[in-house]
Amino acid sequence: MSAPVAAAPALVSVRGVHRTYGSGRTAVHALQDVSFDVAPGELVALVGRSGSGKTTLLNVVGGLDRPDEGSVVVDGTDVTRLDDAGLVRLRRDVLAFVFQTFGLVPVLSAAENVGVPLRMRHLPVADRERRVALLLDLVGLADHADQRPDELSGGQQQRVAIARALAGSPRLLVADEPTGQLDTETGLAVMALLRAVVEAEGMTAIVSTHDPVMIALADRAVHLVDGRLHDA
Ligand SMILES: Nc1ncnc2c1ncn2[C@@H]1O[C@H](COP(=O)(O)OP(=O)(O)O)[C@@H](O)[C@H]1O
Ligand SMILES: [Mg+2]
Repeated sequence: MSAPVAAAPALVSVRGVHRTYGSGRTAVHALQDVSFDVAPGELVALVGRSGSGKTTLLNVVGGLDRPDEGSVVVDGTDVTRLDDAGLVRLRRDVLAFVFQTFGLVPVLSAAENVGVPLRMRHLPVADRERRVALLLDLVGLADHADQRPDELSGGQQQRVAIARALAGSPRLLVADEPTGQLDTETGLAVMALLRAVVEAEGMTAIVSTHDPVMIALADRAVHLVDGRLHDA
């Protein structure tokens, strides 16, 4: 297991983040003064009940949403200050998302789905096919390359989504309840796969979950309660 080096600069540094939806009496304070660091190579579980602010926090970290206050530095860049072009580059070159609902393109095969980020990078076809085959092998789906998402089980679809997220060799993987739609056994297998690929690819990951069983596979857990961080 890759123990984080204490002296290493954080890959992710969240400082004083606030995010409020709406205003006045109906305002929802989804995040309140959230600060934490993630060291390179760490797999951090973001834990909290439904509505505690996990998705909001991951969206802010990944540049899908902006905080009202505070900063989020990912790999040396304050993502809260990026313009649209900078955000596109961030999502192409630095981080990748895995969602609860997999988010695969239904008309594309598993291999084609994994290849999407490589197409966006205009990788030569031969290189793309080689990397896709390697990634499908890594997630144990070499024999399912030509199948479409609706021909795969939920666990297999999420493995395709993980392979796709890894395709562009992101430094940071952001996964929002990736096991939320899977039964416990399949969810654990997917979480163990995440653990393994993060180590194999030398990546860093933040994975939200409300399942205590999944937390054991993380290096560390960060707990959200009503938009605030709590010590476990
Ligand atoms: N687009 C939105 N508009 C208004 N309220 C929202 C919106 N998204 C989330 N919320 C609220 O913010 C809080 C945190 O939500 P969320 O980040 O989705 O939590 P989690 O992912 O832990 O379930 C909840 O109270 C939720 O209802
Ligand atoms: Mg959520």
